[in-house]
Amino acid sequence: MIDRIGELREQAQAAIAAAESAAALEEVRIRYLGRKADLPNLLRGVAELAPEQRGPTGKAANQARQALEALIERRAGELVAQELDERLTQDRVDVTLPGDPLPAVGRLHLLTATRREIEDVFIGLGFNVAEGPEVELVYYNFDALNHDVTHPARDHTDTFYVHDDVVLRTHTSPVQIRAMELQPPPIYIIVPGRVYRRDSDLTHTPQFHQIEGLAVDDDVTMADLQGTLLAFARAIFGEERKVRLRPHFFPFTEPSVEVDVSCFNCVDGVTADGQRCPICKGTSWIEILGAGMIDPNVFGYVREYGYDPERIQGFAFGMGIERIAMLRHGVPDLRLFYDNDIRFLEQFG
Ligand code: PHE
Repeated sequence: MIDRIGELREQAQAAIAAAESAAALEEVRIRYLGRKADLPNLLRGVAELAPEQRGPTGKAANQARQALEALIERRAGELVAQELDERLTQDRVDVTLPGDPLPAVGRLHLLTATRREIEDVFIGLGFNVAEGPEVELVYYNFDALNHDVTHPARDHTDTFYVHDDVVLRTHTSPVQIRAMELQPPPIYIIVPGRVYRRDSDLTHTPQFHQIEGLAVDDDVTMADLQGTLLAFARAIFGEERKVRLRPHFFPFTEPSVEVDVSCFNCVDGVTADGQRCPICKGTSWIEILGAGMIDPNVFGYVREYGYDPERIQGFAFGMGIERIAMLRHGVPDLRLFYDNDIRFLEQFG
């Protein structure tokens, strides 16, 4: 009988080692240790053996059972580890792959796309992007920008007042002062944002967008202004463009200029098919923005860092994003930007 036990023990050991899954291992366990299996049956038969055989046989059978149980447990552990290993290799995620992109469900609004393009040009020239509040103090919108108390833009018929001393900003220029109060020179920033004026007709909406530019340093000149705007004009309207500066007036720049870019749609005001150019109205120049050298009085309003007009100088410019987009894409009516007509929006981006 002891021989039989040894035989069963060897068979069972081989079967355990060969089991390649938890289910197969469970079958082996039932076959050799289950209630109806040979080994337990043998154990039950021990009682009928001759007394001197009972001890050694029972002991051998018990040892065999315990050894097999331990082997099964070890094998089960191995199988779990093996399975985990396999799953980890199979399910490995390559975190360096780009995520599944969502299908495009829309596109950038032409005004957003235009703003970003203009920002990119100036970022390429070394400018940073700054922002400021749309609900603005009269102080920043007018006073600190050197507007006379009688300046017509202060009128309630031109400007939205929230309180006596708070307006919806009429331009992005107040951020000039705010930016200077936040840091000493040098400053090179552009400021995109919404602005508000009490205007509503074919070419004006009460809310529109501007991009302000501000450069302050110890040696900034009008030549830098012209070169910067030339680089901008060429990036946006084409490499062949020229710019010209015409004298103008703004309360916060001195001298002030209006800046024209040479027309991209015609030669000397005449289009390729011999018509008077509708974009420049035959003048071959298109007005794109206002600009100038920072008026020394404006530096005097900056309440931090002692901006000393004897030591520093700067230029500023301000342009309408709608105007740039209309010129560039031949958009005939300003209101198309705000109608949200999908047939218009889908033509861009
Ligand atoms: N803020 C002016 C406007 O809205 C434009 C401008 C900006 C002019 C900066 C000069 C310098 O008309």
